[in-house]
Amino acid sequence: MSELRQNAERLVAEGKGILAADESNGTMNKRLEAAGVEPSEENRRALRELLFTTEGAAEHISGVILYDETFHQSTADGTPFPRLLEDQGVVPGIKVDTGAKPLPGSEDEKITEGLDGLRERLAEYYEGGARFAKWRAVITIDEHLPSPYCVHVNAHALARYAALCQEAQIVPIVEPEVLMDGGHTIDRSEEVTGDVLSAVFAELRAQHVQFEGMLLKPNMVLAGYECSEQPDDDEVAERTLRCLRRHVPAAVPGIVFLSGGQSDEDATTRLNVMNQMGPQPWEISFSYGRGLQAAALTTWHGEDEKVPEAQKQYRHRARCTGAARRGEYTEAMERELATA
Ligand code: 13P
Repeated sequence: MSELRQNAERLVAEGKGILAADESNGTMNKRLEAAGVEPSEENRRALRELLFTTEGAAEHISGVILYDETFHQSTADGTPFPRLLEDQGVVPGIKVDTGAKPLPGSEDEKITEGLDGLRERLAEYYEGGARFAKWRAVITIDEHLPSPYCVHVNAHALARYAALCQEAQIVPIVEPEVLMDGGHTIDRSEEVTGDVLSAVFAELRAQHVQFEGMLLKPNMVLAGYECSEQPDDDEVAERTLRCLRRHVPAAVPGIVFLSGGQSDEDATTRLNVMNQMGPQPWEISFSYGRGLQAAALTTWHGEDEKVPEAQKQYRHRARCTGAARRGEYTEAMERELATA
């Protein structure tokens, strides 16, 4: 089996999924500030050390996506983060896009940048231990958006990135995120998500990306935050799976959802329901950022003495999400932390 395929399959191993700890410095600083923690390089490092040294988390986490700064940081006692993860059997990954920037000629839409010099950066990250990567495209829904122009250029860039990753023996996670912001209905979300996936797979195919050696990181099909009609979990799961079945080739080994601002419990429950809906052509897993770390960050609050309590929070979310990956998550399990 090729190295790419082997690593893609490792990342979606049974009961495990991915921790997205690849917030850029700007995003991480905002999250630290919101949690009452001073935004500094040392606090960004300390939070990542807290997460990556949580005992037992690796039972549920197959890989961790890092940001460039974190990729080059170490624990307080000097172990580089990529090595710390590898030693626990966790695959180190790297976010390689340089962010979503305004799309010229289409106000209110974004294009993700980062292709310049990517071939050279990928070679360096492989040397440093990275075996998978992430690139996130952002698609906004409103009455008139997304424009076909925005969908096309983002799909093209995602495929350029994915082809370069595979050349470097790095598994690309292809992330076209249709945002939940706004008042759109779930019907509209399903339609747009389908159009975006269809454009992305056409580009991936045109640019010779091997589907067996990549993972897809999509949004779930949800109504906008401000929509007055909110679907129940079964409807989200059914529509999401229907949309994926229509647009994602069966050769792709796994789907790793983003949590995208859903509550921790919603993100876990919906993943669970999808896994209970029987075998699908691909593994149904997770690549959560906020959905795994938010509770730990709030509990930590930048205080050394709170580290064990924060690690307990993270271990709990990793365990619940890992169970949802198998369709075995229950409300009782969710409540266990409170009684522990
Ligand atoms: P969320 O789970 O917080 O959406 O983050 C996942 C991610 O990596 C977004 O790019």
